[in-house]
Amino acid sequence: MSKINLMEEAIKIRKSAYVPYSKFPVGAALKTKSGKIYTGCNIENAAYTVGCCAERVAIFKALSEGENEFIEMAVAADTERPVSPCGACRQVMSEFFNKNMKIYLTNLNQETKVVKMEELLPYSFGQRDLFSS
Ligand code: THU
Repeated sequence: MSKINLMEEAIKIRKSAYVPYSKFPVGAALKTKSGKIYTGCNIENAAYTVGCCAERVAIFKALSEGENEFIEMAVAADTERPVSPCGACRQVMSEFFNKNMKIYLTNLNQETKVVKMEELLPYSFGQRDLFSS
C-alpha cells in the first residue's frame, strides 16, 4: 500500500467518527511491518475528556491485536493546513514509533506534510528518562 492509499484509508475511516460535540471527524491509518493497516477515528463522549483521538484508536487497535512494529501512519481531517496531531497523541506515538518513522499529515485535498516522529515530538519524555537514575 502506497502513501496515497494510506491517506485514502485515513480519509475514509472519518465516516465512522463519533463526533456529536466537535463535529470534527478525524481519521488515521497505521501500517505495520507485517503489512497490515489499522484504521482509527475519533470517538467522543458527553464527558468530554474521556473521548479518544483517531490516532490513538488506530494505535491501540493494532497493539491490542499483538502488532507493535509500525512503519508509517497517515492522519486526515477537514483542515485548511494538513492536520496537526494533539500533544497526547504525539506522546503515545513516541512510545511506539521509532524516531525516523514517517507520519503523513493531510487534509481532504490531500495537501500533505510529511514529518518524522522526532520532528513531531522533539526532546520527548520516554522510558529512558524513567530508568536512567
Ligand atoms: N482529534 C483527533 O482525533 N486527532 C487530531 O489529530 C486532532 C484532534 C479529535 C479530538 C476531538 O474529538 C476532535 O478532534 C476535536 O478536537
